[in-house]
Amino acid sequence: MDLVRETPDEEITAENLPPDKVPTHVAVIMDGNGRWARQRGLPRIAGHRAGTENLREILRACVEFGVKILTIYAFSTENWGRPEEEVQELMSILRDVIDCELDELHQEGVQLRHLGDLSKVEEELRHKIYHAIDLTKNNDRLILNVAFNYGGRAEIIHAIREIVEHGYKPEEITEELVSHYLYTGDLPDPDLIIRTSGELRLSNFLIWQSAYAEYYFPEVYWPDFNRQELYKALLHYAQRDRRFGLIE
Ligand code: IPE
Ligand code: IPE
Ligand code: MG
Repeated sequence: MDLVRETPDEEITAENLPPDKVPTHVAVIMDGNGRWARQRGLPRIAGHRAGTENLREILRACVEFGVKILTIYAFSTENWGRPEEEVQELMSILRDVIDCELDELHQEGVQLRHLGDLSKVEEELRHKIYHAIDLTKNNDRLILNVAFNYGGRAEIIHAIREIVEHGYKPEEITEELVSHYLYTGDLPDPDLIIRTSGELRLSNFLIWQSAYAEYYFPEVYWPDFNRQELYKALLHYAQRDRRFGLIE
């Protein structure tokens, strides 16, 4: 059965998703902003701005479809290597999103968290991020992890340092302990990782946590990823048979 044909709008409802097969944690590599802009003869930054416009729709759709945790990859440790002007624009975008959207996110019950290292981020922006996290810490409709200056290898190094500093003995080092010291802490691992724009790689995203994730790689560039695209991703996920190394 072709579950993933183009779904007419009226069929895109939570009732049409098998409830026991909705992923708890969805993680998204929001890729293709630059190509989206180039296709339209616009500067890359216009693509990055467009790539924030669809976020509100995606957050609402997550709540509607029953996703509890959404993690978005917004800026990688490798993205510092882009031209200074683009890096600065990406910082400004995060600043503007917090300034313009924080109240509404809070009202809608979104709990904001950050994954990554903020020490390299300029002080004013860093404080805005801390404020957003503090303001929303008791919300529980949706957890939104924003991976910003995030790298999976850097995260593992950070966890190892913490473990060493806390004086754990070799025999006390377990998978649970390492997971606990990652930026995702005690959140469950992602069930589904979506990377837009047709690229087939993780680019240093959640490399520990993704060990048993399902993957989905739609062709659309991130600014075109909307509620319908999320629904399609969830339908694909619902068809997967997750075995975790066991047999049926
Ligand atoms: C993803 O879009 C956003 C960030 C990495 C910040 P890109 O900027 O990577 O867009 P493409 O891949 O060049 O099209
Ligand atoms: C990954 O996308 C990082 C983010 C989406 C923030 P990139 O576009 O930076 O990754 P590569 O360079 O294609 O691997
Ligand atoms: Mg890219």
